[in-house]
Amino acid sequence: MALNKMKDLKIDEMERLTMDYVEGILQPTPTCDIWDQIWNFQAKPDDLLISTYPKAGTTWTQEIVDLIQNEGDVEKSKRAPTHVRIPFIEWIIPSIGSGLEQANAMPSPRTLKTHLPIHLLPPSFLEKNCKIIYIARNPKDNMVSYYHFQRMNKALPAPGIWEEYFESFLSGKVCWGLWHDHVKGWWEAKVYHRILYLFYEDMKKNPKHEIQKIAEFIGKNLDDEVLDKIAHHTSFDVMKCNPMANYTSIPPEVMDHSISPFMRKGSVGDWKNYFTVAQNERFDEDYKKKMADTSLTFRFQF
Ligand code: A3P
Repeated sequence: MALNKMKDLKIDEMERLTMDYVEGILQPTPTCDIWDQIWNFQAKPDDLLISTYPKAGTTWTQEIVDLIQNEGDVEKSKRAPTHVRIPFIEWIIPSIGSGLEQANAMPSPRTLKTHLPIHLLPPSFLEKNCKIIYIARNPKDNMVSYYHFQRMNKALPAPGIWEEYFESFLSGKVCWGLWHDHVKGWWEAKVYHRILYLFYEDMKKNPKHEIQKIAEFIGKNLDDEVLDKIAHHTSFDVMKCNPMANYTSIPPEVMDHSISPFMRKGSVGDWKNYFTVAQNERFDEDYKKKMADTSLTFRFQF
């Protein structure tokens, strides 16, 4: 559906969005429709990009980054919802807006978000040597989180039943493509570019330590008290109650938190409540093959 037509749609008329391929990677159809504009996006040298596979802890990192930039000033970080503060460059939601337009209208220095795999990243980000923070999450929890997100979010295709979704995820037939290629691609890119590569599980284990790493990468020297304050305000329980960070500002016709809240569980190892023994064996066998060519490792539980 063309962007101008989508803008005319009222939210209560909104059906599930479909997906199409861009260079072999599934994307929501509205993103595919303006792919040339996304690909030609002009990054600026002082842009900071937060990149993730969907459901790896993007929103959490966005909140951390915004609070670091505002030196722990919680009120400043409540100035607008996450998606307004930090445009999601390839995202278009009927009646809500286009991340690309938002980013283009934003004054510098900008902080931006993407879920694009490295080979689909608009080239200007690497040409301009932008700082990039990438967060990866173990694929079992990532899959469960994505499944629930697709259930509640009409801006993505319906996931089907869990058994079907399990197969879609393993074969990369979900928006933004195969998890394995995504995390490996960005892992390899960090050798050549200014990429801080972080893990959801480390953030859970020692949030203050990871917040400090992000602050250092951004070039902010924060004292201990501010780091503690940021850790507190970006804890799962506090963010879950923050309407500027929990996506409840998105109309319920798009994100229906009564089906599954955006801030769902925020834990490590929840996959054990979903994977059958057979699915787990199948996953591990497939994982071994797909991850045989990388030094990247993940923690699936504490
Ligand atoms: P679950 O569905 O497992 O709960 P993204 O922002 O990339 O879409 O990721 C969303 C996932 O991160 C959800 O996972 C969400 O609950 C979790 N999350 C968000 N904020 C968090 C926080 N402060 N601490 C831990 N997990 C958080």
